[in-house]
Amino acid sequence: MGHGTWIDISEEYINWLCFANAGMLSRGNLYCFDYVMRRLPTEDPVVEIGSFMGLSTNVLTFYMQRYGRRNRLITCDKWVFEGAEPGTTVGDSSISHEAYRAFARETFIRNVRFFSGNRLPHTVEMLSDEFYNAWRSGRRVTDVFGREVQLGGPISFCYIDGNHSYEAAKADFQNTDEMLVRGGFLLFDDSADGSEWEVCRVVREIKAAGRHEVVIRNPNYLFVKK
Ligand SMILES: C[S@@+](CC[C@H](N)C(=O)[O-])C[C@H]1O[C@@H](n2cnc3c(N)ncnc32)[C@H](O)[C@@H]1O
Repeated sequence: MGHGTWIDISEEYINWLCFANAGMLSRGNLYCFDYVMRRLPTEDPVVEIGSFMGLSTNVLTFYMQRYGRRNRLITCDKWVFEGAEPGTTVGDSSISHEAYRAFARETFIRNVRFFSGNRLPHTVEMLSDEFYNAWRSGRRVTDVFGREVQLGGPISFCYIDGNHSYEAAKADFQNTDEMLVRGGFLLFDDSADGSEWEVCRVVREIKAAGRHEVVIRNPNYLFVKK
């Protein structure tokens, strides 16, 4: 969750979704998603990095449907969590990190099949670096729902919510920006001013470079490419 105040446009469906679907959704992001989906510049794919148990994925499909957006939604996650060393258990429980990972992955699939069944995204089981390498090479891959998806080409919007370290967030930005169309959008989770996440440094650098314009801070940063 970010710092400061923000506009929260949660509505009935979003509240019910958040009751049932575990996840980390900064409610201010709803305003950004709504804004973007009203204004997507092209029909090129929308990308999400870091899907966890599908909460933001399901929010994205909701707004895409609301505004009749036919762009493909392609998400990536490998469900490899920080601090989850193989062969160790989750704290003092008897649950292994392998089992926890499998649970999170299965829960993602179940949540997304349930809430976005009529507008299923493509979810690729890769870290963002591998994902963008595959994207760059125009690979055809099988998603976690067992469907083939063709990667490659321009991107109209990316929601960046994977690894929040400076190096990883910067790589996500650079890789995305290489594919992002002019007028395309970028939203960085946990980027609010005053937040401790290293992604804030990436955001400061983007602002300083001047090739993208800040369109919303609610409190996370939404940029448009000039
Ligand atoms: C903060 S959570 C995402 C929350 C999610 N968007 C939601 O709505 O609940 C971060 C997710 O990013 C994934 N992740 C971490 N590093 C990643 C990377 N390099 N590429 C893709 N996903 C990554 C993790 O497995 C985790 O599921």
